[in-house]
Amino acid sequence: MQLRSFRLSLRFILPLAFVLSAFAYAVVPLMDNLTLHWFIRDLDIRSQLLANTLQEPLLDYVPQKARKKITQLFDRAIQDERLYGLAFCEPGGALLYKTGNYPESIGCWMPQSSDEKRASLVNLPTGPVHVAESLLNQDGQYLGKLILVHDMSFIERRSADTRKYVITLFALLAIVISLITVFIAHLSWRGWMSGVKGLLRGDFLLRPESRTPPEMRPLLGDLRALFNEMNRELEARGDASQLWTPDKLRALLQGELAGDQVLVVSNREPYIHVSTPKGIEARRPASGLVTAVEAVMRACSGTWIAHGSGSADRQVVDRNDCVRVPPDNPSYSLRRVWLSKEEEQGYYYGFANEGLWPLCHIAHVRPVFRSSDWEQYVSVNRRFADAVIREARTDDPVVLVQDYHFALLPRMVREALPKATIITFWHIPWPNPESFGICPWREEILEGLLGSTILGFHTPFHRKNFLETVDRYLETRIESEASTISYGGELTRVEHYPISIAWPPEPASAESIAENRADIRRELALPADHLLGIGVDRLDYTKGIIERFQAVERMLELHPEFIGKFSFVQIAAPSRSSLDEYQNFEARVRNLAQRINRRFASGSYQPIILKAEHHEQEELTRYYRAADVCLVTSLHDGMNLVSKEFIAARDDERGVLILSQFTGAARELHEALIVNPYHIEQGADALHRALTMPEVEQRERMRSMRTLVRDFNVYRWAGRMLLDAAQLRRRERVMSKIRLHSRRSLRRVS
Ligand code: G6P
Repeated sequence: MQLRSFRLSLRFILPLAFVLSAFAYAVVPLMDNLTLHWFIRDLDIRSQLLANTLQEPLLDYVPQKARKKITQLFDRAIQDERLYGLAFCEPGGALLYKTGNYPESIGCWMPQSSDEKRASLVNLPTGPVHVAESLLNQDGQYLGKLILVHDMSFIERRSADTRKYVITLFALLAIVISLITVFIAHLSWRGWMSGVKGLLRGDFLLRPESRTPPEMRPLLGDLRALFNEMNRELEARGDASQLWTPDKLRALLQGELAGDQVLVVSNREPYIHVSTPKGIEARRPASGLVTAVEAVMRACSGTWIAHGSGSADRQVVDRNDCVRVPPDNPSYSLRRVWLSKEEEQGYYYGFANEGLWPLCHIAHVRPVFRSSDWEQYVSVNRRFADAVIREARTDDPVVLVQDYHFALLPRMVREALPKATIITFWHIPWPNPESFGICPWREEILEGLLGSTILGFHTPFHRKNFLETVDRYLETRIESEASTISYGGELTRVEHYPISIAWPPEPASAESIAENRADIRRELALPADHLLGIGVDRLDYTKGIIERFQAVERMLELHPEFIGKFSFVQIAAPSRSSLDEYQNFEARVRNLAQRINRRFASGSYQPIILKAEHHEQEELTRYYRAADVCLVTSLHDGMNLVSKEFIAARDDERGVLILSQFTGAARELHEALIVNPYHIEQGADALHRALTMPEVEQRERMRSMRTLVRDFNVYRWAGRMLLDAAQLRRRERVMSKIRLHSRRSLRRVS
């Protein structure tokens, strides 16, 4: 071990020493030059000073030719150890007086320049000397010049000394830096080694971040996220290998959640009772959310709390405003909350559908925010929260809150039932922080949602947008890898759970595909071999219905051979019709369909068959099964269950799905023809490709998508959330026991 350290240290020291010595050898000549320059300047000044001192007596002695006095004067001057010799030359250039060791070879030295204070270096056989001259003038008459020769051997000595010091200094520096480097490298190497060993042992999953060496933290975060992702993948695969069924979901509830009460809250109710001339009818609304959650509720029983909006809703409830549903096989309770016209207008039409809906869907419709709507939204959330609290039989029910109608409810319930497990699912997209930031009540909405134990989105992208929005607008602690937000001492886990539909699909089809195909074509008065496209949506501006019609039109322009042979059936359930935006949209859809039909019509042929009315699920399934292609071209959609319903309906493994890239479903259904709905040509090409796709290819694609929808069905969606909830509940129970225990211990100590 020590030998290895030594070898490691050598690996650091040798290159460093080499670099430093190379540096020292480059620096020493530079320093030599610099010091030589300084010394010469020093000698110039000294020579000048000495010449000035000698000038005065010389002015007396030279005219008198007082040789003795001059010699004495010169002998006294060269007492200075650095002054080597002195001489005086007459104007004619003859050397008149000189000291004993004045070098003969210099004689009456003639400098190169005519500068008055002339000086230079002269190399003598004994070594270099500094020679300077000073002219002697009296009353404008030139008397001769004084030549001063300085010894320079001391410069050489000093230079040698300096070189020695510099090299020693660099050597010392090299040793010190090497030792420090080796020491630090050794420490961090050990830290890294133990860190990496810890990572491989999995310590990092358990250890708090504060106890992790700082240099390991970035890696730790990435690894944690990776392990979590891998874990989820493995779990997902494990789950997928065992099909999630209503029974499995029921068993999970009874086992993991010990039969705890399940309460669902949504705005839209799963059954709407309406008065018709034939009596009261129970209708299923056009809502993907309701379709999915209804399948879960059938399996879990419990109570579903929703707005009673049907004309006959009040007539069928008991005195607690409850009715058992589904009507043909009652398996759970529907509790209705009644809203006044003002409440419905402000909370549902106003804040939820004119504010939050366009805010979260980037479909280029401006959100409208009114204070009066917000007030209704707050008070209706309070009313539903009160209903949850009243329905709760225990202090820790499992509450499943659905969608953007109830952003404030999770916190309201949490305040009354701190032990409740609140799972909130946001069924629509979550925008980026900048887009969300325009909501005047953004903080209140975020705070409300953070009352949830678990907050779910369809896609990782919407989950990430939410985390970033919270990070931007609230003071919270976000653990991105663990995907948790800690706010006001409470923890919310933010996850993505892609929603799906029931499998086996409900309702099961009584007819064969061939029968469906023939029947639907007969009903539409079309020939048996007529090609059919299908679109099923609410009449909503986010669904890309206009763009879809334009794609059909463009396809017919580009491929006129399909005129008279292909029709597109658009089933469009009227939605939120009292809002201007929706009325305008419906008018635009109708006008466009008429224009396209006029353009391509011949006889009874219509390229677009618009059915702007509500259809029950059985009816939709018949259309799905009769179609050759299904178009889902939403401009923005949380998931879009129509795409999955179409796939589930196609037990013949035929039919092509064209799917907008802006739906959550596009992240799962890779075998669909994925399009950008804004790109009309692309939509037209996809439609043509679908209509001409060989059956083998259709089968390949459909089979793969059916496997996915079967494995990742709605029971799995609910099951994953409930399993996560069960895990958090267990953890919370353990933690509260620990807290209780430590409080008791503290009391005993004090
Ligand atoms: C979307 C929303 C649901 C809503 C559905 C129908 O899917 O996410 O919450 O129920 O549209 O809209 P509606 O306003 O008729 O309930």
